[in-house]
Amino acid sequence: MSIQETLQTALKGRSLAGRSLLTWLDYTPEEIRFVLDLSKQVKREKNAVCERFKGKTLALLFEKRSTRTRCAFETAFGEEGGHPVFLSTADIQLGAKESIEDTARVLGRMFSAIQFRGFKQSTVEALANYSGVPVYNGLTDAFHPTQALADILTLEENFGACKGKKLCFVGDGRNNVARSLLVISAQLGVNFSIITPKALSPDPELLKICEPLAQRSGASITVCDDRDQVAGADALYTDVWVSMGEESKREERRALLKPYQINQTLMDMTGRKDAIFLHCLPAVKGEEVAAGVIDGPQSRAWDQAENRKHTIKAILLATLL
Ligand code: CP
Ligand code: NVA
Repeated sequence: MSIQETLQTALKGRSLAGRSLLTWLDYTPEEIRFVLDLSKQVKREKNAVCERFKGKTLALLFEKRSTRTRCAFETAFGEEGGHPVFLSTADIQLGAKESIEDTARVLGRMFSAIQFRGFKQSTVEALANYSGVPVYNGLTDAFHPTQALADILTLEENFGACKGKKLCFVGDGRNNVARSLLVISAQLGVNFSIITPKALSPDPELLKICEPLAQRSGASITVCDDRDQVAGADALYTDVWVSMGEESKREERRALLKPYQINQTLMDMTGRKDAIFLHCLPAVKGEEVAAGVIDGPQSRAWDQAENRKHTIKAILLATLL
């Protein structure tokens, strides 16, 4: 079946065309599963030359730096005939001399879709509310949904269906990557543990929102400060100890998170020789992960990075065709 046919027969006639992606909380488990399966098809057909985005334009707004997210959006869209336009805060008046709402209204008249990476979730929400075109969250302080999709794809490539697999996030339990993994795990039935010092526990409100989702999918969600809980894990995941915008907290975080580094001892504590290591990247080797682990045989961080492109292309295809 071609991707066009897949999209037409998708979700029993309920299309995702025109939808934004601000957080996976806005999607049903069936819709997430659809985009995940579409990502696999996109990856299988990655060498096909297509022009599915011909005549379309994508604004890429960046308040924060990026390698993977920017390159994934730009290449996934541009290779298929679309015209991506990169705009940093050095280029445009995003909430400075012009309100976010007005910028959104103008961009919505010129672009088929908008990607935003920056600080506040409320900015990406305002762009979606006022632009009238699909808006994709390419990372905010609160969520990083396109990353979480690539992470689940990587988990499934290694272990088959993600449902019932044990994924442990070890590190800053309140950051955007941990929060997005929490949501997608609750939606898809992944047994997800956040292993973090008490001071960095995830927002109780988000945990509460995820509770009924986890009940429906059968996911178990746990938060603890005990590293022994990695026992039996299929995958250990970490992220930087200091996220973008939190640079002043470096020393405090180093002190808190030092015992939570993913090194070979922690990988071995899973008791699983086939356990994999995941990291959204960029990594600070020697802080959240030992170089021997991220560069070693259990690491899937580089597949994960490649999967950003396939999953982002699938999101664009599902919402723009
Ligand atoms: N993982 C990720 O979002 O990487 P970039 O910050 O390079 O986009
Ligand atoms: N938590 C990190 C993720 C980077 C992809 C940050 O926000 O900087």
